[in-house]
Amino acid sequence: MITAILCVFSFLFLTWWFFAGGRINLPPSPPCFPLIGNVGQFAPEDSIVAFRKFRKKYGDIFSLKIFHKTVIIVNGHDHIYNLFMKHGDVFSDRPAGILKDFFSKGKGVLGSSGSSWKEQRTFSLNALRKFGFGKRCLENQIMDEVRGLLEVIEKFEGQAIDIEEPLAISIANIICSIVFGKRFDYNDLKFKHLLFLLNQIFHLTTGSSFLTLFPALRHVPFDIFKGQTVQRNLDEIQSFIKEIIDNHRLCFDKNNINDFIDAFLMEQQNQEMERNTAFTDEQLVVTVQDLFAAGSETTVTTLRWAFLFLIHHPDIQTKLLKHIDEIIGEAVPQIEHREKLPYVEAFVLEVLRMGNIVPLGVPHCPNRDFEYGGYSFPNGVTVLANLGSALQDPNIFNNPQKFQPERFLDEDGKCKGTQKDKMIPFSTGRRVCLGENLARMELFLYLVAILQKFEIQPEDTGDLPSLKGHLGITYMPKPYKVKFIRRS
Ligand code: HEM
Repeated sequence: MITAILCVFSFLFLTWWFFAGGRINLPPSPPCFPLIGNVGQFAPEDSIVAFRKFRKKYGDIFSLKIFHKTVIIVNGHDHIYNLFMKHGDVFSDRPAGILKDFFSKGKGVLGSSGSSWKEQRTFSLNALRKFGFGKRCLENQIMDEVRGLLEVIEKFEGQAIDIEEPLAISIANIICSIVFGKRFDYNDLKFKHLLFLLNQIFHLTTGSSFLTLFPALRHVPFDIFKGQTVQRNLDEIQSFIKEIIDNHRLCFDKNNINDFIDAFLMEQQNQEMERNTAFTDEQLVVTVQDLFAAGSETTVTTLRWAFLFLIHHPDIQTKLLKHIDEIIGEAVPQIEHREKLPYVEAFVLEVLRMGNIVPLGVPHCPNRDFEYGGYSFPNGVTVLANLGSALQDPNIFNNPQKFQPERFLDEDGKCKGTQKDKMIPFSTGRRVCLGENLARMELFLYLVAILQKFEIQPEDTGDLPSLKGHLGITYMPKPYKVKFIRRS
C-alpha cells in the first residue's frame, strides 16, 4: 500500500516538475497534460488559426509541449526581427527534427548549422552568382521559361485549366538550368513524377506536425505518420540527383565549368588537394536537393495564389492590365521595368503578404541558453517564427485581412514605405531565404508576361475557388482551375 502511494506521489511530483517546475522560465503555454503536453489541443494542419488564438491568450511569445519536446512560437514582426536579426549570432542554427536529422543529416544549406552551414551557404551564393544570380543573363533564362509556359497555356485556347503542373515544370526548369545545367521537357514523365514527389513532401510536413518534430515516427508501422512515404519520395529524389551528379563527374572538365554541380566538383578537387574534406559527395547531394526543393515549390505556390487573388478581385486585375498596357505595352518584360510598374510590385507584395507562403518559416534554435522578453530560450529549443503573424500584423498593416495592393504605394504612386520595409515573407537575419532575389525576379517577370497576353477568369463566376489553403511546409491553395483568355 505504502509503495503504491509513494509511486503515485512520485509520478505526480515528476509530472509537476516536468511540466511546471522544469519550465518555470519558459514562455507561457496552454495547460499541459501529463506526458502528452499540448498534444490533441490543436491539429497541426490548423496551426495558423490555433496559434492566432494562443497568441491572443498567452501573448506574442508562447510555448507548446509536444510530448517531452518544447516548441517556442514567436509572433509579430519586431520579436522575429529581434531574435533572428539582432541576435542572429545566437538564433541561426537548426534544431533537431525532420529537416536536420532526416532530410539533410546536418549537410547542405537548409538543414545544417554552424561552420558547415556558413561554408555551404557562402559557397552556394558565390557559385550561383557565377551562373547568373543577380545578373541580366538570368533574366533571359527566366524569360525563355516564361515563353515555354505561355505556349502551353495558349494550347488550351481559353479552356479552364489547373495550371499547377505546367507552372511547376516551368519554374523548376530555371533552378535546374542553373544547378544541373539542363532543363526538362513538359512531357518528361520522370521529371513530372519527381515534381509530384517533391510536392507530396511539402504537403505532408508541417512545422508543428509530429513527424516534423519526431522524425523517428517514420518507423511506426502502417505509415500512420506518412513518414515512410516521405522517406521513399526523398530516396527517389536523391537517386535522381545522384545520377545527374555521376554524369557530371564523367564529363568533368575543369576548364569548362557550366553549372553549380561543376563548380562544386571543382571546389571538391581543390579542397582534396589541401586535404580538406568538407566538400563531400553527400554534401553535394544535399545542397543540390536543397536548392531544387526550396527553389521551385515556393515560387509556384506564390504564383498560384496570385492567380487566385486575381479572379477574386477583378477590379485589381483590370487596374493591373491597364497599368502594364500604358507603361510597357507589349515590350518584353525586364527587371528594370520594376520601378516603372509600381502597381505590379505592390500586387506581388500583397500576394506574398496575404498568401503567407511559408507561414511558420523554417525552424531555428539558439546555440546557447538565452534570455529574451523575460523568458528563457534553452540551448537547442525549437523556435518557430510565425511569419504569418508578422505579414498580417495589425500594428503594421491596416485592415490586414483585406487584399489591397495600394497599401504599399505612397502619395506619388511609388512602391515604398514602412509597410514594404516590414515585409518578411522570406524571413529575416542570417538565414534569410537564399533565393529571395531569384524569386522576386521570377514573380515579376511571370506575372507581367502572362498578363500582357491573357486575362485570367474563373471557371465559374458564381462559384469561386476557396481562399482557404492547405498547410504543409508552405501554405498552398487547394487545386483549382482558371481560364486564360487571350487578350486581343
Ligand atoms: C516566393 C518564393 C520563396 C519564399 C516565400 C521563400 C521563403 C523562404 C523562407 C521563409 C526561408 C526560411 C528562412 C529561415 O530559416 O529563417 C527560406 C530559406 C531558403 N530558401 Fe527560400 N523562398 C522562396 C524561394 C526560394 C528560391 C527561388 C530559392 C532558390 C535557390 C530558395 C532557396 C532557399 C534556401 C537555400 C533557403 C535556406 C537558407 C538557409 O538555411 O540558410 N528560396 N526561403
